[in-house]
Amino acid sequence: MTSTTTSVLSSTAAESDRPGSEWWRTAVIYQIYPRSFADASGDGIGDLRGITSRLDDLVSLGVDAVWLSPFYRSPQHDAGYDVADYRDVDPLFGTLADFDEMLAQAHARGIRVIVDLVPNHSSDQHEWFQAALAAEPGSPERARYMFRDGKGENGELPPNNWESVFGGPAWTRTTDPDGTPGQWYLHLFDVSQPDFDWSNPEVQEEFRSILRFWLDRGVDGFRVDVAHGLVKTDGLPDHLPSVDADSMGGGEEDVPYWGQDGVHEIYRDWNRVLAEYDGDRALCAEAWLPTVDKTALWVRPDEMHQAFNFPYLMTEWNAPAIRTVIAESLRAFPAVGAPATWVLSNHDVVRHASRLALTAENPQGHGIGPDSPGQPIPEVGLRRARAATTVMLALPGSAYLYQGEELGLPEVIQLPDDVRQDPTWFRTNRERYGRDGCRVPIPWTSDAPAYGFSPSGESWLPQPAEWADLARSSQEDDPESTLWLYRTLLATRRAHGLGSGRLEWLDGYGDDVLAFRVHADDGEVTVIANAGQAPVTLPAGTVLVASERFEGGELPVDTAVWLSTR
Ligand code: GLC
Repeated sequence: MTSTTTSVLSSTAAESDRPGSEWWRTAVIYQIYPRSFADASGDGIGDLRGITSRLDDLVSLGVDAVWLSPFYRSPQHDAGYDVADYRDVDPLFGTLADFDEMLAQAHARGIRVIVDLVPNHSSDQHEWFQAALAAEPGSPERARYMFRDGKGENGELPPNNWESVFGGPAWTRTTDPDGTPGQWYLHLFDVSQPDFDWSNPEVQEEFRSILRFWLDRGVDGFRVDVAHGLVKTDGLPDHLPSVDADSMGGGEEDVPYWGQDGVHEIYRDWNRVLAEYDGDRALCAEAWLPTVDKTALWVRPDEMHQAFNFPYLMTEWNAPAIRTVIAESLRAFPAVGAPATWVLSNHDVVRHASRLALTAENPQGHGIGPDSPGQPIPEVGLRRARAATTVMLALPGSAYLYQGEELGLPEVIQLPDDVRQDPTWFRTNRERYGRDGCRVPIPWTSDAPAYGFSPSGESWLPQPAEWADLARSSQEDDPESTLWLYRTLLATRRAHGLGSGRLEWLDGYGDDVLAFRVHADDGEVTVIANAGQAPVTLPAGTVLVASERFEGGELPVDTAVWLSTR
């Protein structure tokens, strides 16, 4: 068996310019979706005190940091991504004091905390938008958002043909105080999420101030929502998304509202704001771009520190495709001095324990339900998910986990129609199921009400009966469980320092097999993953971790292993 070094983590001048520990270069960051994590108040919606009560479970899992999806004041039309007050906690989730306590408790345990910043749009309940509605066209109040006159004789047609990510038109007409139809405003998402006008210095200053508000409280960074939006092409030219595009622009070139050059100036400015603070705080871009190379533009030395690797997330369980995206990522991100990042699940996509066994295309945000084509076989999905995670957690760079994946949770496909809440479901006239299936509250205790999610037994989305077996308590003492697999992977990754390792591809295993070795300061690990149809003969070595139990030297299908081959 031969080996070739085809891709390494390179060190660049840009990289060494950056001060501090730069913990985010190698961190494993766990996404908490607050409304579905743990509910201390008993209202069926998770909250900040619930998170604090479960921090020890995250310590035993072995993660370095958490990212919290929004918990700010919000009418919750898009599960909190419609923010009405960026400087306060919604009563659903608790208070600012609860936040401070959660942050202190996390820090006391060595866990860093990243919060979600939503700068592309606010809620229509935000005081600025309410003031804009009450003000005249052309007023300073309206200039904070994207108000335009309509086309047609009486302004009855929208200013252009843009579509909302959630379906339907991206423009809504306002009604003037005297009851007559007025101007239109842009909302790339729900009608309740008006887009800011980022060419307005007042908007820019407001967000600098919001960053400082949370940095002063001690947060370690921000996950930036829709970081490829914000700036729109001058003149707002017409554009229709191509049919096979992802709803957030992945797979498409030249969209007048995604990935415009001007957006980078904003992040350079924010980078300077973060640099005013002690310690190393990080900005992570949620930017759905068609390629790794484009994504890397968001993490140039004076911009953000990380960007989610969505091209990796969207790659099917196919060894050549995975090999390509890993190699491209380990070239493109280090080339600008940034770490590669890895992610398989989040609150916007079908959970990977289901997605990796889908037999039909499933663009980001579309979701699956009882009538969707290409339904996954659960056993196949879980097996592939465990193998895929085993590959991911060996890779150099930083990795993101989404709450519940450590339990092997699948997408909840059979949710009744009348409980669905994602605006996508309503705005597409129930054509796209949307994202509720990955947001069901997670099970902690198999025999408790709501599986320990809430003391009252309430749960804002119903949990399936099968989840008793997937509850954390059912997996705690089972070495074959997904929870044990994650714990072992994370402990071994940490012990060997794999996050700052160097990847070397191994040849000779055939196309359907991923084979590589990670050389790190504290050891090296050989990773073999079988995405083919037949068992694969393993090299001599000691098994450190395997995604499934197997006997002898043959690696079964849909299985991955970490070996010590010295
Ligand atoms: C991001 C969030 C998603 C939200 C959208 C609009 O993609 O991850 O959940 O719906 O932005 O804010």
